[in-house]
Amino acid sequence: DANDLGKGTYPYYMIKEIDEQPAVMRKLVQQYQNDEGQLEINEDIISEIKESDRVYIIACGTSYNAGWAGKQLIERIAGIHTEVHLSSEFAYNTPLLTENPFFIFLSQSGETADSRQVLVQVNQAGYPSLTLTNVSGSTLSREAKYTLLLHAGPEIAVASTKAYTAQIAVLAILSECIANSKGFESFIDVAHELSIIANAIETVIDDHEIFDHLSVTHLSSSKNAFYIGRGIDYYVVMEAALKLKEVSYVQAEGWASGELKHGTIALIEDNTPVISIITDEVTGPHTRGNAHEVVSRGAHSMIISMEGLDRKGDAYVLPKVHDLMTPLISVIPTQLIAYYTALHRGNDVDKPRNLAKSVTVE
Ligand code: G6P
Repeated sequence: DANDLGKGTYPYYMIKEIDEQPAVMRKLVQQYQNDEGQLEINEDIISEIKESDRVYIIACGTSYNAGWAGKQLIERIAGIHTEVHLSSEFAYNTPLLTENPFFIFLSQSGETADSRQVLVQVNQAGYPSLTLTNVSGSTLSREAKYTLLLHAGPEIAVASTKAYTAQIAVLAILSECIANSKGFESFIDVAHELSIIANAIETVIDDHEIFDHLSVTHLSSSKNAFYIGRGIDYYVVMEAALKLKEVSYVQAEGWASGELKHGTIALIEDNTPVISIITDEVTGPHTRGNAHEVVSRGAHSMIISMEGLDRKGDAYVLPKVHDLMTPLISVIPTQLIAYYTALHRGNDVDKPRNLAKSVTVE
């Protein structure tokens, strides 16, 4: 198999691709910097987004989850209302659009039929569109008005990892370029933050044995698992749960911590694994409170927190990064947990059952 050559010393593409993320973050800064070292994106893209009154992000699967982190960035940094939609829902249940919508398609492969179906409609309506993809010349790239590349290198493992972080990073770069062009007073230096993140990802990957151990002791023989978080952490737990389901087949849910008590908590039994992500100072105490609620119902609670938000060693502590960029670091332990849980269950990590890398049927 020609692909095996590309794995080098790695047993699976998934772990190789997880490991490549620091390099991808650094490469993106290089790719989107001009000769003066400033982040720069094609002026036509920036001006069309500035002229629009709302951004609609359209995507499936992991790309959809990246879209939620992107919404946060576009709204907070660039000050533009942003909605995130599943392609397969948007195509047949189109919401009421604003007058001047701008569409951003997120697609690692650029070939996802559900997303293309929406792009066809968007083109028919004459709305401007931008595809963020890892594959230049892909269908969604050719058919959208504009393309920005993810520069993540080929992603072979079916479960997407580096494309998720690359999509968020490119959306951060795009948001800063829009903000600069609008003359906003800058409160984030995305290039600098991405270089901090590259180092932070390395630190977390160096701790891979912690997640290997956690997977074998608490997840690989569990029938289900829960990830909880609020706000920006809620967006990440949706991706964390998807990743765990995809490769380990452990039934997993990513839930808004505050909503747990309104139904899902009924599923908590003795030793049910519940992993909380806490990177936000304001909502952190609330999520921790929710974690205590499940512990009193017998759950095994694990907390992944941002530096400074742990309480007396109760958490795996992530290196500090900018508040708006936390998905880029908080997702890393969850990728490793999915990988090791799948490995301990003896699954084919790179080719999980029933899944395809790119789905070209609706
Ligand atoms: C498939 C893959 C997922 C991926 C989704 C969207 O279902 O198995 O990993 O997230 O498609 O793919 P795209 O290439 O559009 O990002």
